[in-house]
Amino acid sequence: MRVIVVKDPQTMGKRAADLIQEVMESKPHFVLGLATGSTPMPLYKELIRRHKDEKLDFSTVITFNLDEYVGLKPTHDQSYRYFMNKHLFDHININKKCTHVPCGIGDDLEAECLMYEEMIEDVGGVDYQVLGIGSNGHIGFNEPGTSLASRTHVTQLTESTIKDNSRMFAKVQDVPTQAVTMGIGTVLDAERVVLVANGANKTKAIKAALEGPITAMCPASALQLHPGVTYVITEDCAKGLTIAVER
Ligand code: PGA
Repeated sequence: MRVIVVKDPQTMGKRAADLIQEVMESKPHFVLGLATGSTPMPLYKELIRRHKDEKLDFSTVITFNLDEYVGLKPTHDQSYRYFMNKHLFDHININKKCTHVPCGIGDDLEAECLMYEEMIEDVGGVDYQVLGIGSNGHIGFNEPGTSLASRTHVTQLTESTIKDNSRMFAKVQDVPTQAVTMGIGTVLDAERVVLVANGANKTKAIKAALEGPITAMCPASALQLHPGVTYVITEDCAKGLTIAVER
């Protein structure tokens, strides 16, 4: 596994953008898997800058987001569709019809999950998947205990995730308790993966993911089974790692 340690979140965003751009420019219908949260924001800022200043072209790019809260409409300011429009899609030349975020609204979310898997398969799978990591080791909303073979599904959020995410909501009671998420098996099917992380609150999860056993109790540890994963993490996150890293 490749682990790149950088000094700050801005550099993290640039290094992750370099990895993505290289593959994106070599593929006519590049399929990009996307994540929400605070961590990928410097990456999205950098992709927008490259689009504006360097004409990085998104016109034929197809995207699939990892997850969405259950019960929030796409227009809700805490929905992940809203987040993606605001922080990326509205600022690049992507065809919005080619951007996909799981649907968290409707009577038959199971059917929506199956459809999401089919849509990913129909475009030939994800070329590059962006991931963050939860302080509990989750990827997407695959919380500890999720099957390492899981596909897109409806999941119950843990108290730790609800607490972590409550900073975005007026009060903790407003945080949805369920989400739709790509499964760990879905993530592992991507051709390549880049996991970004910064901040001391992620140090423990990063160490468990990289150096701990492969276990459903740390969903990110499943990435040890994938041959094409790069971690781009800041120094505070890399504290205490004993494996070889690049700087
Ligand atoms: P964060 O979320 O980037 O906002 O810390 C990451 C995650 O929970 O996957």
